Amino acid sequence: MQIAIDGPAGAGKSTIAKKIARDLGFVYIDSGALYRAVALLALQEDQPPEEGPGLAAFLDQLTLDLTTDQAGQQQVWANGEDVTEAIRDNAVSQRVSAYSALPPVRQLVTDRIQDLAAQADVVMDGRDIGTVVLPAADLKIFLTASVEERARRRVDQLASQGDQVSFETIAQEIADRDEKDRQRAVAPLVQAADAVYLDSSHMGIEEVSEYILGLIRK
Ligand code: CDP
Ligand code: CDP
Repeated sequence: MQIAIDGPAGAGKSTIAKKIARDLGFVYIDSGALYRAVALLALQEDQPPEEGPGLAAFLDQLTLDLTTDQAGQQQVWANGEDVTEAIRDNAVSQRVSAYSALPPVRQLVTDRIQDLAAQADVVMDGRDIGTVVLPAADLKIFLTASVEERARRRVDQLASQGDQVSFETIAQEIADRDEKDRQRAVAPLVQAADAVYLDSSHMGIEEVSEYILGLIRK
């Protein structure tokens, strides 16, 4: 069984996908984490977001993996190193869309997550899961919320980790990233024709996950 959850930044995709996966005993696959891992390593190795032999060589030697530890926490690996925390850095958030727009990067990540999805029942979240990665998914959700609400959630999330960032800064960063993800030529952020649209601006985590679990049971 395959559940695909797509939508813009801060819509609640990963929170809801993790919860649903836990409830159903499915594997959660965070596709954005792999794009973040590519961007992190590229930034560390001064690889600019440009197609060419440099990018090809960089991607050739890059290995990516997702694992789940005994406590059920997901770990992200790049070239054998645990990058779970480093990929959440704001510097990565700001640059990731430039890398995820590149076709060879998309090819690498898509191949990897399709391999992972072939091994278990999965809940996968991202931008192009219902349209490109798992076009035959059993259920597709397009989860969104207003930019203001998504920015508020992200500010609260960062504050709970001890990072104080202004609402205006985060709202602008989220809007910029959404715009880049929507406008790119390959696998843009767009609702699949057969996806269920869900605006969670006025819904809590519990309400959203109960609604989706109801659709899955149906
Ligand atoms: O969690 P957050 O909404 O901040 O983003 P994410 O899911 O970690 O994804 C980070 C970035 O990876 C997105 O802004 C996209 O540029 C890219 N991405 C993508 O292009 N396709 C996907 N299936 C997932 C993420
Ligand atoms: O994965 P995505 O970027 O779509 O969002 P997320 O990281 O799952 O959610 C961003 C923040 O919003 C988290 O701190 C969630 O707990 C919170 N959230 C919320 O307050 N209400 C919801 N209905 C969904 C998420």
